[in-house]
Amino acid sequence: MTSQLLAAPRTHSRILGVGVHRPRRVVSNKEICEWIDSTEEWIETRSGIRSRRFAEKDETLAVMAVSAARSALRHAGVGAGEVDCVIVASMSNLVQTPPLAVTVAADLGATGSAGFDVSAACAGFCHALAIAGDMVSTRQARYVLVAGVERMTDIVDPTDRGVAFLFADGAGAVVVGPSAAPGIGPVVRGADGSSRDALRMNTGWGAFRADPTLPPPRMKMDGRRVFRWAVEHAVPAGRRALELAGLAPGDLAAFVPHQANLRMIEILAARIGLPDHVAVADDVVVSGNTSAASIPLAMEALLRSGRAASGDAALLMGFGAGLNYAGQVVHLP
Ligand code: UT7
Repeated sequence: MTSQLLAAPRTHSRILGVGVHRPRRVVSNKEICEWIDSTEEWIETRSGIRSRRFAEKDETLAVMAVSAARSALRHAGVGAGEVDCVIVASMSNLVQTPPLAVTVAADLGATGSAGFDVSAACAGFCHALAIAGDMVSTRQARYVLVAGVERMTDIVDPTDRGVAFLFADGAGAVVVGPSAAPGIGPVVRGADGSSRDALRMNTGWGAFRADPTLPPPRMKMDGRRVFRWAVEHAVPAGRRALELAGLAPGDLAAFVPHQANLRMIEILAARIGLPDHVAVADDVVVSGNTSAASIPLAMEALLRSGRAASGDAALLMGFGAGLNYAGQVVHLP
């Protein structure tokens, strides 16, 4: 006998709205060079970054995620009370429990909503989006809010010249809901735990509390190694996501990869074989690398600039600590 569960009619899902929170404080390369031995020119040449945003004390993870979520709900025309689940992706959330997502749901007024967090660093948003899309298309939920939010300044050593200029803060959110046509393509995901030491925390908070003579927990990155690994894996993953969506590179209107580094984004676009008409998101130039928040932030910037429009096909690709990646083709909200 076929179970009721398997017989439940499926629908399609799509991104209905996007919203962001860009922290108030803009930090220039000049200011960064007051803390690290570097130059404005080196930072811009190697990473493409000209400025980034650092969150102030009151711009907590929850405050920024709720602010982005409110904008996304407004854009989608969905009320907070209609949200069935909130999923938050973050690598800088230092409070393991309760899940940040339940705080976001409560502060948003999504009283009937479930909530859970996803920990997959810079690939977290695409992992969370895939889960949200499946929840909607299998009718487990009608509206799911996905937020990527980071205060990377809480886990980055401001004097570490390998990372201090790169990482930054912010939040982006999308609302996923039902759709008459497919709007979120099959996800391509993978990880290589044998390379996990290339981007990691030096120690946990538990160890630090037990022995305060230890250095505080900070993120450590072998940038060159992560760069090489990401290019090697994100290119075939991007091509596979296109294949699973039944599209060729030229069918895309936009490419919205994790905003790790502009040089890297340009290499990915070229090696995936994207023609010139595909708009390549470059929000990293003014936002820095905001890990799990970078893809929705870059999506919003691309739409606001007019370089991409609602309904356009876009390839999303997240990659980072793990080392891991996840990506899919979507129609932009
Ligand atoms: O978001 C999660 C995933 N993260 C990423 O995907 C980040 C990937 N990696 C990167 O974006 C790049 O590796 C960085 C932007 C972090 C660094 O750029 P790079 O071109 O890979 O630089 P490098 O680490 O290979 O260093 C090149 C040189 C070295 O000097 P030597 O050995 O050639 O004499 C470094 O010591 O640049 C030196 N250097 C710096 N110089 C000025 C390293 N950091 C700095 C600095 N300022 N801040």
